Amino acid sequence: VNCCCLYPFLSAAFLYLLVSYQKQNVDIYSFYINSTVTSRYATTVITSRVANTLNESQGIQFEVKIPKNAFISKFRMVIEGTTYDGVVKGKEEAQQQYNQAVSRGQSAGLVKSVGRTLEDFKTSVTVAAFSKVTFELTYEELLKRRLGKYELLINAQPMQLVADFKMDVHIQEKPRISFLEVKGDLSTGDLTNAIKITRADKDAWVTFYPTRDQQTTCRSCGENGLNGDLLITYDVERQNPQGEVVVSNGYFVHYFAPSDVSRIPKNVVFIIDRSGSMHGKKIDQTRLALLRILSDLDEDDHFGLITFDSEVSLWKRELLKATETNLENAKSFVKEIRDRGATDINAAVLAGVDMISRHPREGTASILILLTDGDPTSGETNIDKIMANIKEAIGTKFPLYCLGFGYDVNFDFLTKMSLENGGVARRIYEDSDADLQLQGFYDEVAVPLLSDIQLKYPGGTNLTKTSFSLYFNGSEIVVSGQITDNSVESFTTEVIAVSKGSNVTYQDTIMTKDPRDVPPENEDFMQRLWAYLTVKQLLERQVLLKGQEKEDEMKEALKLSLKYQFVTPLTSMVVTKPQEEEIEVAEKPKEEGRQHTDDGTSNGPLVSQINFYLYRTLILRNNHDILILSPKVNRFLLAVVGQSKLLCFDIPVPHKLRLLQDSASEFSMNGESLSEQNGFHQIAFHYKTNHHLIINTKSISYRNGQDNVEFLWGQEPTQYNTDSVSLVVLENEMNVTMGNIGVVILSHKKDGVKFLWPAIWQYSKDANLTGVLGKADISYEETEGSQTPTLKIKDKEVKTSLETVSDYRLHSTPVRECWLVPFQAMMEAEISDFTVTQL
Ligand SMILES: *[C@@H]1O[C@H](CO)[C@@H](O)[C@H](O)[C@H]1NC(C)=O
Ligand SMILES: *[C@@H]1O[C@H](CO)[C@@H](O)[C@H](O)[C@H]1NC(C)=O
Ligand SMILES: *[C@@H]1O[C@H](CO)[C@@H](O)[C@H](O)[C@H]1NC(C)=O
Ligand SMILES: *[C@@H]1O[C@H](CO)[C@@H](O)[C@H](O)[C@H]1NC(C)=O
Ligand SMILES: *[C@@H]1O[C@H](CO)[C@@H](O)[C@H](O)[C@H]1NC(C)=O
Ligand SMILES: *[C@@H]1O[C@H](CO)[C@@H](O)[C@H](O)[C@H]1NC(C)=O
Ligand SMILES: *[C@@H]1O[C@H](CO)[C@@H](O)[C@H](O)[C@H]1NC(C)=O
Repeated sequence: VNCCCLYPFLSAAFLYLLVSYQKQNVDIYSFYINSTVTSRYATTVITSRVANTLNESQGIQFEVKIPKNAFISKFRMVIEGTTYDGVVKGKEEAQQQYNQAVSRGQSAGLVKSVGRTLEDFKTSVTVAAFSKVTFELTYEELLKRRLGKYELLINAQPMQLVADFKMDVHIQEKPRISFLEVKGDLSTGDLTNAIKITRADKDAWVTFYPTRDQQTTCRSCGENGLNGDLLITYDVERQNPQGEVVVSNGYFVHYFAPSDVSRIPKNVVFIIDRSGSMHGKKIDQTRLALLRILSDLDEDDHFGLITFDSEVSLWKRELLKATETNLENAKSFVKEIRDRGATDINAAVLAGVDMISRHPREGTASILILLTDGDPTSGETNIDKIMANIKEAIGTKFPLYCLGFGYDVNFDFLTKMSLENGGVARRIYEDSDADLQLQGFYDEVAVPLLSDIQLKYPGGTNLTKTSFSLYFNGSEIVVSGQITDNSVESFTTEVIAVSKGSNVTYQDTIMTKDPRDVPPENEDFMQRLWAYLTVKQLLERQVLLKGQEKEDEMKEALKLSLKYQFVTPLTSMVVTKPQEEEIEVAEKPKEEGRQHTDDGTSNGPLVSQINFYLYRTLILRNNHDILILSPKVNRFLLAVVGQSKLLCFDIPVPHKLRLLQDSASEFSMNGESLSEQNGFHQIAFHYKTNHHLIINTKSISYRNGQDNVEFLWGQEPTQYNTDSVSLVVLENEMNVTMGNIGVVILSHKKDGVKFLWPAIWQYSKDANLTGVLGKADISYEETEGSQTPTLKIKDKEVKTSLETVSDYRLHSTPVRECWLVPFQAMMEAEISDFTVTQL
């Protein structure tokens, strides 16, 4: 490990320099965050407007943190009036398309996990001197109810003071909003005064407009301005125990969270890993959490305690009632838990299943909770066998919840095992508050209200999950679907569940034509909510499926991700950047193992910092496909006499083009471009009938009927002359003179890939030149006064835009500004008039 640490540290230092350098020369003159929550479905748009205050072009970075649960659904850059939209594509498709680029090893994670709840989205783009760029990122998520509230988390860290910073949140719910609170670091210090909350019955608005001065005052803010989260928590009233149904444009969502039910006594068995790896803080925090959890048990609950390493120890053979005496004894047992030995998950969970199965279930809710921090290393260690054993033993009778402590756990395995048994897996982050995380999880499952819940919608189709093993107080069951017959005026819901051993039914019929339900401007949201939930559930379920079924469900998830432009684990967002001729691909980071580490600032600084940097290198190795080079076009420049700005035009690649031709002197130069690559990969010259010169990125070959000559790039300077032809090969350029036409071919290397670019330095004034580069007599005038920039070329008005281009006619490849015009307008010809079939 030691050998790998130095490099990441260096790159981190470099990054820091880059950031602090940029800070002085860019001005984020406005930063808006707009979030609209309609019936728990939140759509957030972050808009950052940035000016390059430098007198030369530079890279400008856009970096924001978004919730892990969210799907990015749009990313857009606007530069000098031109819009660049990210396009969501199937991952496979994107990967295949850019396979070529993979070998270049270029990479930079566009999206990565940071901390427990956030993901980092980062990109940069080169912006011309004194120009501006607008970044706009949209993400969507369904807010989940936990412990009686919804949480909307918004992070802001613009990295500098912003003259015009605005955060607008609008929450619109169908029932009354019962409470709303704003918390988080951004609501501390003087920033408290920048927050305004406006509430109506069913709407709430939170605005946060901090002045420049206020931006430095919060707990985690500093001279670089805002840095932290705003956490808006709220809940709605639930007058109707049958739940709340919202219908819009042929889709519905049903929120079911009855509170009129009494709690079901529970049988809970805690299966606690005490293997050697739990040593130290982890075992201390586990003990602490267990002691508190025991204190929270209700007297009619029954509980059992199992600890395990390679041996399994039962506190008592049976579940015992949570009486005061029993709890005191249990606490003494917990205080004595010590770490030792290996990890036999199989035996421990089977012991738990056995114990809880022997206990009468009638009128109760049974729950198994496994806490582990490692892989199975003792007893049965084959993961598939363990899962089969446990599935068979549990036989859908009760749910198994798995808590994975830290990063050494095989979280995929825990997820799969809990899903297979009707539960969920949760990660417990190794941190100073791990005991609170453990307790928080317990709190969520502490009060079961219903079991064996089945939801039915006679008028619905394409439903999301409709059967749940338990419903806990403070949570919410959400089902969405399409309405089978849109012309029907009513919609019926039916919920059947078991409460304390007796069957209960909730039935409701609502009118679907209630116009007050959804504001017309976001009628769409319901369909998106349905798609979001469907994709989430399909992705979750796929770990349990095999073969054709898995393939079909993945196909369905991919189809929906593409249709709704969600960046999910199955898709990539491809962002084509302008002047660099680069493509960036944003992907949802994977939730697993060490990749999923904290930001390294929390606890045990050295250790977590190393984790963090190792994580960075892991990204570099594993996600080669993230940043790749790829032009869609070759952009050509033309200088115009008497004008300060150049003209430029684009020709899509791949192509074989007639670059320059002079019929009088029987000269022609043709070039071939490959797809996904800059410039030319081969250029051929033909002169008179017998001179042929072929240049590619490796070698140069020339024949003239008598001599056959080969050169290699990078050799000693070499020269070849005949009466009318002169060839001079230097290290990375070649000077070709044929008759009175002189061309220099430059060999460029960008991101490890070589390409050629021609620069004409001499031609005869009376030559009759044609070809893509043959336009020598072009002129234009800038037209004043019109809205969009327009040029007058040959008496025709041509719409244009001011663009930048890397000038490959020089080795230094300076970035220049140019008026981009359509090829046809300039050449009075089609591109096909300049293509050739053979070089
Ligand atoms: C964000 O909200 C502000 C104020 O409500 C509004 O003026 C602005 O147009 C909104 N921006 C976007 C991108 O929706
Ligand atoms: C930018 O400004 C600096 C100092 O004013 C000057 O030295 C430099 O040449 C300028 N660069 C360009 C590209 O104009
Ligand atoms: C459920 O939680 C609410 C508070 O969120 C509480 O008022 C209610 O009493 C709880 N119900 C039961 C059965 O514990
Ligand atoms: C919805 O269900 C119908 C059949 O009930 C099916 O034909 C259709 O493809 C489904 N739509 C989606 C988006 O899954
Ligand atoms: C509840 O309903 C199920 C089937 O719907 C039935 O098998 C069971 O006997 C019912 N239980 C009670 C207590 O009525
Ligand atoms: C190319 O070579 C010719 C003669 O060898 C020389 O006169 C000319 O300046 C060279 N051009 C360039 C751009 O190097
Ligand atoms: C220039 O060449 C084109 C085609 O190569 C030809 O049609 C045209 O007549 C030529 N013009 C002159 C002035 O030689």
